[in-house]
Amino acid sequence: MSEDLQAPASALPRQPSIYRPDLFAGRTAFVTGGGTGIGLAIAAELRLLGANVVIGSRRVEKLERGMETLRQIDAPGELELHACNIRDEESIAAAVDFAAKRFGVVDFLVNNGGGQFPSPAIAIARKGWDAVIETNLTGTFLMSQAMTQRVFLQQGHGTIVNIIAQMWNGFPMMAHTGAARSGVDNLTKTLALEWAPMGVRVNAVAPGVILSSGIDNYTPENRKFFFDSVPHIPAGRLGTPREIAAATLFLLSPAAGFITGTTIRVDGGETLYGHAAAQQLKAMVSNKATESYE
Ligand code: ADE
Repeated sequence: MSEDLQAPASALPRQPSIYRPDLFAGRTAFVTGGGTGIGLAIAAELRLLGANVVIGSRRVEKLERGMETLRQIDAPGELELHACNIRDEESIAAAVDFAAKRFGVVDFLVNNGGGQFPSPAIAIARKGWDAVIETNLTGTFLMSQAMTQRVFLQQGHGTIVNIIAQMWNGFPMMAHTGAARSGVDNLTKTLALEWAPMGVRVNAVAPGVILSSGIDNYTPENRKFFFDSVPHIPAGRLGTPREIAAATLFLLSPAAGFITGTTIRVDGGETLYGHAAAQQLKAMVSNKATESYE
């Protein structure tokens, strides 16, 4: 089974799910950042298991490309895309209302949309910092609040999964996203507490180093950082988008009906060693220190 989950994202439409085929039949999910990478893997798995899926992103061309993959999956659920800028409250409200009107209910919200760029903290400009915090932290809050206010409360049920990152021991070269994702980890707990009485569960998945299409946005030097992480991951390999999707779908499913306010780390044990990027930094510092005695 684990071989299936390790298949590359390009194989998505041909990969069987490890879950029962109709697990999400008749359910509707909204997946932000659903056009590419981890979001697309989550949308594909939901579709495979019978859900209606709406993918949202700021960039429609990314959504259209994602739809091409999703349409290859032979499943009964309906598919829609809707442009949605999670930094803009009007855009969020329109996207949420679209999904609710189109399908009558929205059962699941997966907050996967976001973005960041590698940079030493010393060089992050205010504009870049604000953009990452606004997208990854504020965007997740606004999306969750709007979906709960406009849909989940009326229905009396709803399930949210926030996709964050492995940032527990700091996140070298990613100070902005480390701070934002850490904020979402805490937000997950607060929303779980406040919204449990309303029938809304809120959980998070923290991916470790994942080989997804997101890596294409990085320079060759920064891409190398991904592969150099492998010795710092107890599992001895990078993770796949399908492995993040599997954890997300577990949290959305009735199997997790009594789970709220938790974050599942899907990182091949990386957290137990420390952060892979921090380990690389440590090796660099240690090499420099050794050189200075030579
Ligand atoms: N992905 C990256 N930035 C985004 C934004 N502002 N809205 C939705 N998805 C995004």
